[in-house]
Amino acid sequence: MGSCGACTVLIDGKPALSCLILAVRAKSKEITTIEGLSQGEGLHPLQQAFHEKGAVQCGYCTPGMIMTAKAFLDRQPDPTKDEVKEAISGNLCRCTGYAKIIEAILSVQEA
Ligand code: FES
Repeated sequence: MGSCGACTVLIDGKPALSCLILAVRAKSKEITTIEGLSQGEGLHPLQQAFHEKGAVQCGYCTPGMIMTAKAFLDRQPDPTKDEVKEAISGNLCRCTGYAKIIEAILSVQEA
């Protein structure tokens, strides 16, 4: 139904709710999932930041949060706290209260 953002993936670099995308619409597109962010054995800086800042509790929302944050930081590499809040407003978390998620995203500077 597209109500939580947990299934967010990148389609050609743009965030999309995979639960709302018919498979045929993804044909010939570049799809990036949370697994695709890691760099060999190492975590992507956002994955590492979520881990280090305690931004993961049950983890249900985490892949979608990170994929949304990745697309956002690609567009806006030096965001304000309010811009981060707006960027993740479609991703729901029932555990963390968002403070540590926002802190983790702000701690990562990407070009
Ligand atoms: S960590 Fe549990 S829903 Fe976000």
